[in-house]
Amino acid sequence: MAGYSPISSLGYFIFGVSDLAKWEDFAVNILGTQVGIRNSDSLGLRIDDYEQRFLLVEDGSDDLQALGWEFDTEPQLEAYVEKLRGRGVEVTAADEVTTSLRRVDKLYSCLDPDGWRHEFYYSPSVVALSKRFSSPVVANGFVANELGAGHLVVIAKDGVKTNNFYQQTLEFTVSDYIKGEIAPGGPVLDATFYHVASGRHHSIAVAEAPIPQNIDHMMLQVNDLNDVGLALDRCMAAEVPIRMGMGHHPNDQMTSFYMQTPSGFACEFGWGGVIVDDDNWEVVRYSELSDWGHKMMMSPPM
Ligand SMILES: [Fe+2]
Repeated sequence: MAGYSPISSLGYFIFGVSDLAKWEDFAVNILGTQVGIRNSDSLGLRIDDYEQRFLLVEDGSDDLQALGWEFDTEPQLEAYVEKLRGRGVEVTAADEVTTSLRRVDKLYSCLDPDGWRHEFYYSPSVVALSKRFSSPVVANGFVANELGAGHLVVIAKDGVKTNNFYQQTLEFTVSDYIKGEIAPGGPVLDATFYHVASGRHHSIAVAEAPIPQNIDHMMLQVNDLNDVGLALDRCMAAEVPIRMGMGHHPNDQMTSFYMQTPSGFACEFGWGGVIVDDDNWEVVRYSELSDWGHKMMMSPPM
């Protein structure tokens, strides 16, 4: 059952980083992603048979550069771009170099009220059968393919503006809401969670919190709970800082922990996220970020 959003999935993340070599070591040996296409100042990472799900660009920013939203067909992409322009959004067609760096066939982009770039594309490149994804450390692989790359939680400067833009202009569908303390006695996080047609519980969530950074965390999901435990063991052995210990979220039902990436923002590593069927879904408001666990191991950024 296709969902209500015209967008199929969140297909890729682009992050600006300050230390590409450190990120490569982290991505391969801790996360278990595979290296894809490498350029002098960028690195593509794979988690499935797409040629690229993450693009890391060495620009010193340690921040979000862009999110790539996938459409199933060219007419669906073109119709969406027309709708955005009709709503007064400035949508730019990408040049050939940018399109090829994303490993897609056709690409447009626009900025949201926070200045974050959203890219819209169709026809991603997939690898040859002989190069199918396999990771020496994540034996049972990642949950990606039609559900997309994962999710991202961003901190908006003005939550009302950003949420209006995501709902009314970009046509993301609300999954649910959580308003609760990040840790007991800590700052309150007020978050709205969004899915698109393929139904991963959320592809993006917008939080308002008294913290300075743009990205709270990105999330990678694996097929086997044991691969979450093994990732935690790898973090501890390599002394990768753990932001929050193992725990369970009430809304997407994800069992996960949070580690710190070389860029400072967190990566949630999880298993068991639910898939939304828009015809049988009730939007609710939760008052706790976690049912159990997710114990804060480091002070939240202030
Ligand atoms: Fe998450």
